Amino acid sequence: MKYLDVYESWKSDPEGFWMEAAQAIDWEEAPSKALFDRGDHMYEWFADARVNTCYNAVDRHVERGRGDQAAIIYDSPITGTKREITFHELRDRVAGLAGALRANGVGKGDRVIIYMPMVPEALEAMLACARLGAIHSVVFGGFAANELAVRIDDATPRAIIAASCGLEPARVVHYKPLLDEALELAKHEPEFCVIFQREQEIAQLTEGRDHDWHGFRYGTEPAECVPVEGNHPAYILYTSGTTGQPKGVVRPTAGHLIALNWTMKNIYNVDPGEVFWAASDVGWVVGHSYICYGPLIHGNTTIVFEGKPIGTPDAGTFWRVIQEHKVNSFFTAPTAFRAVKREDPRAECLEKYDLSSLRAIFLAGERADPDTIQWLTENTGTPVYDHWWQTETGYTIAGNPVGIEPLPVKVGSPTVAMPGYDVHILDDGGEEVPAGTLGAIAVKLPLPPGTLPTLWNAEERFKESYLTTFPGYYETGDAGMKDSDGYLWIMARTDDVINVAGHRLSTGAMEEVLAAHPDVAECAVIGVADDLKGQLPLGLVCLSKGVERSHETICEECVQLVREKIGPVGAFKLCAVVQRLPKTRSGKILRSTIAKIADGVDFKTPATIDDPAILDEIRVSLAALAARKTATHGVVASDPDSALT
Ligand code: COA
Ligand code: AMP
Repeated sequence: MKYLDVYESWKSDPEGFWMEAAQAIDWEEAPSKALFDRGDHMYEWFADARVNTCYNAVDRHVERGRGDQAAIIYDSPITGTKREITFHELRDRVAGLAGALRANGVGKGDRVIIYMPMVPEALEAMLACARLGAIHSVVFGGFAANELAVRIDDATPRAIIAASCGLEPARVVHYKPLLDEALELAKHEPEFCVIFQREQEIAQLTEGRDHDWHGFRYGTEPAECVPVEGNHPAYILYTSGTTGQPKGVVRPTAGHLIALNWTMKNIYNVDPGEVFWAASDVGWVVGHSYICYGPLIHGNTTIVFEGKPIGTPDAGTFWRVIQEHKVNSFFTAPTAFRAVKREDPRAECLEKYDLSSLRAIFLAGERADPDTIQWLTENTGTPVYDHWWQTETGYTIAGNPVGIEPLPVKVGSPTVAMPGYDVHILDDGGEEVPAGTLGAIAVKLPLPPGTLPTLWNAEERFKESYLTTFPGYYETGDAGMKDSDGYLWIMARTDDVINVAGHRLSTGAMEEVLAAHPDVAECAVIGVADDLKGQLPLGLVCLSKGVERSHETICEECVQLVREKIGPVGAFKLCAVVQRLPKTRSGKILRSTIAKIADGVDFKTPATIDDPAILDEIRVSLAALAARKTATHGVVASDPDSALT
């Protein structure tokens, strides 16, 4: 069947389509039907089934003869370690950890926060939770203690599993002190923590609360898989919204299994037994779906890569891993290849490696710029496919269904809607716009299996954030268009979310931090274009009356404050003091106008602006900020030729 036939077969009979896809999963009790309409535009999938995610990702492969196949290849150029874990070993390790968690009171429905770097033990912790029906929530290591505390209070975990440290090229990330600080900040107190001690840093354990990962498992019985209802949450993953309070995206168990399994062949075109590599981090949705669950559920070998595209040790790292582990399908964010291209523009590092195992490269997480796609295609001789999705969906909304039929690539477009997604481009009034016209991208409800049914503890916020603007549709928060061939073009976010190096961040959250600085009266944070990271946050702050301290010192403190409260991943390094912020007559800050001035793109002065003269002041401040990019206070533009010029 061709793509259009498959898409039409879904559209004409979604129930039949997903029930058929469900046959690839091993059920304790098979679902009697796919969709459960809960009214008021709320839906669930496969709610009456009983199933276990870990069984499908691990045990069943051992039972069917894949026990000796590598489930995980750990390749860590940062520590100089390489190691393989077979499905058989993985089952025993996960069952052992699950048994110890169970012996310490963790059971179905309990939340467990996982705060770990890119080590196989992070996947083992996720799978051990899944084995028990416990709900994990992985927190990315680049977040500060405060962000971890916010997640602890929202998820109220019974336990936390953490590593002693993470490793960035230039520094050790001290996870344990960050965890201790987060636990002091949080109101909720978990019953215990399990600490995976790494040889690079042995953390101080707190008596009576912390267990050592190895000792913890000693003397307990391995746990069997606990079947859960199809709509039971498999995990919660927090993602940035418009405010400082992150959104807890809930992932339902059965739909997650079915949908991810379907994507492995139809989108990524890998067969069981082949090697799939997503160079991301378990703290992001790509890590959940395509480092851990998707490949394992489908019987693929997955790679846990602890390193960076450049500097660990050079821009040939990706090519080495592909050659050495015979990777068949590779997925990362465009920013990673921008970094490689910048470091090694003539792709000389690639020459010594054999990429013959590689059939396709997939890009997602941010807009894939045509230059990068072209450079990559020409130098690797491998097809490069952009695809578009979000934490909320957990897998592709629009992509190139290579396993069904590779469609012609239009550089700059992630290609077409996948089965399950009826994508529409709407104007402000919710009316469909003609092909080629920009509008808000919305998906007709219900969303397909595996996508978020709600937000953790926040059903009203779920409805307000996604279902209210366009009744009957899910609002993606992205703007774009569809061309006459049905290809989608993703242009920008419609909210205050920015995308920095493929990491989704909230400018609203950064504004909340800046506003808490004692000298700041008001502020605005916007995303400005950056050649490497796609976007960078930039803050403009107005000071309270009477403040006479040095502007440079205040900016320096603001930069430090965002790093302390949100974390280094915020990459907040651009800050300037301004006298006033441009606003509409009703007092709304004109953030998109500021962003256009910063990016040097043409814009029309908004008719509603209160005082157009402010725009000239802003222009002068932004130019001064660009000029000071090499100054000592850390207020720097990343590239003299990109942002702010
Ligand atoms: N734990 C702790 N700190 C982390 C971290 C982690 N897991 N990941 C990043 N950081 C820190 C970095 O060390 C850096 O700190 P610094 O300000 O002290 O230098 C800061 O967060 C910003 O990191 P990043 O935006 O990643 O920039 P970078 O300059 O370190 O690296 C790239 C740039 C392009 C090489 C890098 O962003 C990259 O590999 N991106 C791939 C994108 C990706 O995997 N996205 C996931 C979605 S698919
Ligand atoms: P996240 O939830 O972190 O995966 O971020 C999702 C957001 O990243 C989307 O809503 C888009 O704004 C952006 N994004 C992801 N993939 C793409 C893509 N292929 N092209 C353009 N933007 C993308």
